[in-house]
Amino acid sequence: MNTNQIKQENFSKNSVNLRDVQKTDLPEFFTQQSDPAAIFMAAFTTEDPTNVRQFMSHWRKIMKDDSIHIQTILFDGKIAGHIEQFILFGLPSVGYWIGKEFWGKGVTTRALTIFLTQIKTRPLYARVAKDNLGSQRVLEKNEFLKDSEDKGYAQGRGCEVEEFVYKRT
Ligand SMILES: CC(C)(COP(=O)(O)OP(=O)(O)OC[C@H]1O[C@@H](n2cnc3c(N)ncnc32)[C@H](O)[C@@H]1OP(=O)(O)O)[C@@H](O)C(=O)NCCC(=O)NCCS
Repeated sequence: MNTNQIKQENFSKNSVNLRDVQKTDLPEFFTQQSDPAAIFMAAFTTEDPTNVRQFMSHWRKIMKDDSIHIQTILFDGKIAGHIEQFILFGLPSVGYWIGKEFWGKGVTTRALTIFLTQIKTRPLYARVAKDNLGSQRVLEKNEFLKDSEDKGYAQGRGCEVEEFVYKRT
């Protein structure tokens, strides 16, 4: 069955599912991505994550880009966030963003496990601010290992931030 055809009533309690992104998901993604605590945590964000026009224009582009694979994460059928594979600094990489009300429920860990069955590219990389411990745990629980370190200007904090580069072989 196509994941888009999963009906709301088919979701069991605490279920995590991935499906293709629908345009109607975008307002919820915007709310999730413009949360100040989440912006600080992620650190490496777009220039102004609170600008809805920039957000919509960015998403219109990436939804048409065949080199980017994005899925909506559903928790009990609700839009919990999104997960994507894209090229970052020339390397196939993963990223994810979950709405605050869904944090700490194991949603991202499980979403990444499912996503890794869809994305066969290896090695796969992820960049994480050194103080983003939740994201580091998500990666480590999915067999990503620390590969190197880097630092760069983080728009979400307005300063330089140190990060780990993780690798999944
Ligand atoms: C980071 C983020 C993805 C974590 O998602 P989540 O669904 O809450 O993560 P999980 O519930 O799967 O938790 C995975 C592990 O991290 C731990 N964890 C989660 N948030 C944590 C935090 N803020 N500090 C420390 N540990 C944390 C959990 O306890 C769990 O560890 P355990 O299994 O050893 O108990 C989520 O907070 C988020 O989207 N933040 C904003 C955007 C962002 O930072 N994206 C990633 C950019 S690299």
